[in-house]
Amino acid sequence: MVCLGNICRSPLAEGILKEKIKIQGLDWEVDSAGTGSWHVGEKPDRRSIAIARQHHINLTDQRARQLKATDLDSFDLIIGMDRSNRNNIIKLSTNAQQEKKIHLIMDFIYPNQEIEVPDPYYDRDGFEEVYEMIDKATDAMIEKLGRD
Ligand code: 4NP
Repeated sequence: MVCLGNICRSPLAEGILKEKIKIQGLDWEVDSAGTGSWHVGEKPDRRSIAIARQHHINLTDQRARQLKATDLDSFDLIIGMDRSNRNNIIKLSTNAQQEKKIHLIMDFIYPNQEIEVPDPYYDRDGFEEVYEMIDKATDAMIEKLGRD
């Protein structure tokens, strides 16, 4: 799960998806990263921690890291929150096999519609909407991939 800072959206995506795969008993490895390095080593934004906590998900053990080129080999799917994230991930990729792994998270519900999870960093009211979008997208992901 990839966003810009790895402190707002992708930590939520990691936390929500991990909770669901635990409940479903799926053997998936889930991680998150940011394309930028500004927040490396930091905990998720307190607003993401708070909204997750309201839904009984704990994000406080996460620490931000920067996406690295080898992640595009290590993971089967590299999922961006918005088109800018996706462009940044594509810039890191070096071959078609890696590029095929790159998706927008909302593609799991609305394929090819280019729907973005908005960056909530400067919008103190945006976190509930972000939570709801990621919650629905991860449900769709498990629905689509969970029985493969
Ligand atoms: P995220 O949000 O990409 O969802 O983690 C942001 C966090 C930090 C910044 C931008 C977006 N920033 O400009 O520092």
